[in-house]
Amino acid sequence: MRDLLIRRYEVADAADTWRVFHAAVHGTASRDYTPEQILAWAPPSVDEARWQARRSAAHTYVACLDETVVGFSDFTDDGLLDMLFVHPDAGGRGVARALVTRIIHEASAAGHQRLRVHASLTARPAFERFGFTVDATRLVEVRGQRLRNFAMSIAVKPTGGPPRMP
Ligand SMILES: CC(C)(COP(=O)(O)OP(=O)(O)OC[C@H]1O[C@@H](n2cnc3c(N)ncnc32)[C@H](O)[C@@H]1OP(=O)(O)O)[C@@H](O)C(=O)NCCC(=O)NCCS
Repeated sequence: MRDLLIRRYEVADAADTWRVFHAAVHGTASRDYTPEQILAWAPPSVDEARWQARRSAAHTYVACLDETVVGFSDFTDDGLLDMLFVHPDAGGRGVARALVTRIIHEASAAGHQRLRVHASLTARPAFERFGFTVDATRLVEVRGQRLRNFAMSIAVKPTGGPPRMP
């Protein structure tokens, strides 16, 4: 896609990634969850320091279109793709595919053999297009609301990195 850049998350991206998260949940995931569930998932405000700390604690990547952050994704050291959010204004243009392609590449380079995700009802079809398969249905409690999602995973081929000691 023209002018789409995937780069590492920086501390200065905290506010923009929160804006994308909030817009994606309220503007896109709202078609699959009730208003109460959406509000519990993405409340109107966030503890910015905590948000920033969580993004930095994972291997986080952002997608920029014309230098504006329009999406982000990540993976944790234990092989969980924890976040995948694309702003509704940039939806349906391959931003999530570009992000997940990069995440799979980086997770593989880091030595992971499998990548897991807890996919929302909204994101499940996209993850299936990327090759993930459903391992289980989950019901998670978020701020007093119960939300359904799916434990999904995909095999990723390690592409190098230092050999691991047995
Ligand atoms: C799910 C989400 C990340 C997808 O982002 P996107 O940039 O619009 O996705 P893409 O344009 O890269 O499309 C990805 C693929 O999934 C397919 N896809 C997406 N939604 C689909 C749907 N509802 N049904 C069928 N296929 C779908 C696309 O056709 C595309 O397939 P292709 O690459 O083989 O052509 C975005 O809609 C979002 O942020 N949703 C709300 C937040 C959310 O639920 N996040 C996930 C938390 S686990």
